[in-house]
Amino acid sequence: MIQPTQIDLIVKNARELLTLSSSFKDESGLGIIQNGAVAVKKGRIFWVGKTEEISGKFPLSRDGREMDATGKVAMPGLIDAHTHLIFAGSRENEFEQRIQGLSYQEIAGRGGGILSTVEATRHSSFDELLSLAKRRLDRMLVKGVTTVEAKSGYGLSLQDEIKILRVMKALQESHPIDLVPTFLGAHTVPKEFRGDRARYMDLLTEEMIPKVAQERLAEFCDVFCEEKAFTLEESKKILETGKRYGLKPKIHADQLSSGGGAELAAEVLAYSADHLEYASPEGIRKMAEKGVTAVLLPGASFFLSTKRYPLAREMIERGVAVSLATDLNPGSSMTESLPMMMTMGCTMYKLLPKEVIQATTIHGARSMGREKEIGSLEVGKQADLLVLDIPNYRYLPYHFGVDHVEYVLKKGKIVYQRPT
Ligand code: NIG
Ligand code: FE
Repeated sequence: MIQPTQIDLIVKNARELLTLSSSFKDESGLGIIQNGAVAVKKGRIFWVGKTEEISGKFPLSRDGREMDATGKVAMPGLIDAHTHLIFAGSRENEFEQRIQGLSYQEIAGRGGGILSTVEATRHSSFDELLSLAKRRLDRMLVKGVTTVEAKSGYGLSLQDEIKILRVMKALQESHPIDLVPTFLGAHTVPKEFRGDRARYMDLLTEEMIPKVAQERLAEFCDVFCEEKAFTLEESKKILETGKRYGLKPKIHADQLSSGGGAELAAEVLAYSADHLEYASPEGIRKMAEKGVTAVLLPGASFFLSTKRYPLAREMIERGVAVSLATDLNPGSSMTESLPMMMTMGCTMYKLLPKEVIQATTIHGARSMGREKEIGSLEVGKQADLLVLDIPNYRYLPYHFGVDHVEYVLKKGKIVYQRPT
């Protein structure tokens, strides 16, 4: 006799189950099921539908559990698609200088900025960096984040970049949050190479990228394409070299000035172009044509008090998938809160609540080529999901600066439960 399938976990009675799946069509575009339920087996989504359809259908396994989400919202785990997770030290002195009128670029020009964090990170041990980053991930988990893209880029020597990427690997093995590692050796030219940037380019393309790829320490290669960092030609060379070694391209583009970064993203078929405050309409059109996801970082606009915002509405109208991320870093966005970015996405970039939810789930997944695995509640996908103590999806970006997450489930296991 065929035994009925045993289920490890059922979440039921969700007032709104945001599937983010196109098979449940509705006006919001979020694939909402009223009074929804999800059944999970072996860490994967086994079934999604209305609660009334499950009665008696899914016997629970021995340690199986049912969760009642009456009156609440359930949705996929949040995806933070752009962070500089691994760094030591902090730069609250620069924060104060900016309040007094100095710009981010002026501070960097005086030896502060990225280079001061490089100094602190080089002087930190593997264990120190591990413990700092673990605490950051713990803070993210409480906010409902289940996958994080993390960039190196505060080492800027072969040895220190490898140290940072190994910290990521250790976290990937020990923390419930999934990490997607990105090599950002091209964050800025380090002090010791300032007189001879060609030599740093050689180090990047001839030693660092090959070594990182050989040790399988990163999946993506990123570059800070910007007047004061890497030129368009240098960026192209770095990303093309990365591609030859199997590292997928991403790019910090047009953040502080208009430099053709969005166009380059389309040319090299980057998975994402990030920031984009100064991206040209032509660059946006090309991104749409080549399917490059835009990762917008309102935390950096907010924290640096920049008045120039990316053309988010135009991106969406042109068909660019828009993601939102924290950009967590000690200089331009010192926060672990992706829900705060959702609110800022609405108020500053004029994205709608449904769009900021897509931006931090399925489009975040898309920006890292993970859209078949995470970012929506669909049969066969990884069971990363949240139960939120809110009455409907619009409430999430609306009530800001507080935590609404009641449960975080990662691969079907409860990894965070809000203390009662
Ligand atoms: O994404 N743009 C380059 N990197 C970071 C800032 C890094 C720093 O200031 O330490 C960013 O904004
Ligand atoms: Fe960044």
